[in-house]
Amino acid sequence: MANILEWAHAFAGRLHENDTESFMARHNEMALRLQKEASAGHLPYLTMPYKARLEEELEALSPWLCGFRHMLLLGIGGSALGARALQRAFAPGQDGPGHTGRSLWIADNVCGKTLETWLERLNPSETVVVCISKSGGTIETLAQYFIVKQWLQGALGENWSGHTLLITDAQKGFLREEAQQFSLRSLEVPDHLGGRYSALSAVGMVPAAFLGMDWRGLLDGAAEVARPLCENPASLKDHAAFRLACWASALAEKGYSQLIFFCYIPAWATLGPWFAQLWAESLGKEGKGTMPLPAVGVTDQHSTNQMFLDGPRDKGCLFLTSASVPQEPFFASDVPAQWNYLRNKPFGSLLEAEALGTCMALSQSQVPLVRIHMGESAEKEAGALMLLLETATILTGWLLDINPIDQPAVELGKRLANARLGAQGYVEEEKALAAYLSIAERRQEF
Ligand code: PA5
Repeated sequence: MANILEWAHAFAGRLHENDTESFMARHNEMALRLQKEASAGHLPYLTMPYKARLEEELEALSPWLCGFRHMLLLGIGGSALGARALQRAFAPGQDGPGHTGRSLWIADNVCGKTLETWLERLNPSETVVVCISKSGGTIETLAQYFIVKQWLQGALGENWSGHTLLITDAQKGFLREEAQQFSLRSLEVPDHLGGRYSALSAVGMVPAAFLGMDWRGLLDGAAEVARPLCENPASLKDHAAFRLACWASALAEKGYSQLIFFCYIPAWATLGPWFAQLWAESLGKEGKGTMPLPAVGVTDQHSTNQMFLDGPRDKGCLFLTSASVPQEPFFASDVPAQWNYLRNKPFGSLLEAEALGTCMALSQSQVPLVRIHMGESAEKEAGALMLLLETATILTGWLLDINPIDQPAVELGKRLANARLGAQGYVEEEKALAAYLSIAERRQEF
């Protein structure tokens, strides 16, 4: 069964179909830009020039990688969120009782307690440390690397290097120097492949291969969605990603400031945080963009859904379902009489019914809603969805006349933190920090 976008309820509330016309009319301009940027090598997430080489490298690396019982992944943002989404979706056993297979631990925060606990409990001789940073200079990731490297060296001596894999830029950055200095195994994050667009490169595929996923399926699914745009950019006009981008741009233009990503494929719930980072970091610029709100069906029916339905009318929704969510187990034939309508039905029928109920309720509340319905919920479809959402994000950025690739606003906080730590070269930030800290506090105890 094909993956589809379903548009019957996409235009509701203040949003009318003709609001997309000015964006749809820009299809030639967008197709030309796509062609230009793709030929200049600026859209590797789409053209995937690295795919064949990555497949070879992963093939060769897998026996070594899969010889370990644990993978400790150090990364943050786009260097971690794709891996976590895939881990939860396709290797959920690790979170369940009695797991005996390989385990992935993703350290994407500055949380000493978690890191210490993991290092106390993991056996270094059974662990491969994978440090991922495109820039090779992200302080949170490097800080963890320094501590974990010491842990590995303390336990394994010179053999520490045989337990380390670095995924980083081909030429520059501290991690590349580190790989060279200590002859560490390494893989490349291709040029122009920014963190949040890198899940379908070594960044996400190494953990996927380690956990035994069909990583080729992920890449192939993505390539299929990209193919029409790569082979014939003019086909962009009818491509699902462009229509989605026109809809999202019109939504923003009509004053909808939030975009719910309601995932009714429970195993794929962590795609929400992955999408949120992709959308927010790409599009939150110059006062523009829509705030992504990841939500999980059915869990958030008992949480944020009340706000979605009857709070401010400022939300659109991407509603994710699949034709093939697991149906089992079955309810017994002696379920109490009050719930006799469940008797002999599959558990999955509850999910389906609740998805339908929520979808319809959102529409009745005039929330513009596009349903993304996946034919299957396997790796190939996940790859296709990720590529679709990445492309829709890029195109929305272009339609809103902002750069969806950079993230300049987040730099200030990083520079101020460096100044606070006493790093060299932050004179202005030190002054600004001092002025900020000199503002008298207005405390209230509770
Ligand atoms: O999407 C992005 O570009 C960022 O969120 C990065 O992924 C994040 O800042 C980590 O960067 P790096 O991979 O260079 O360590």
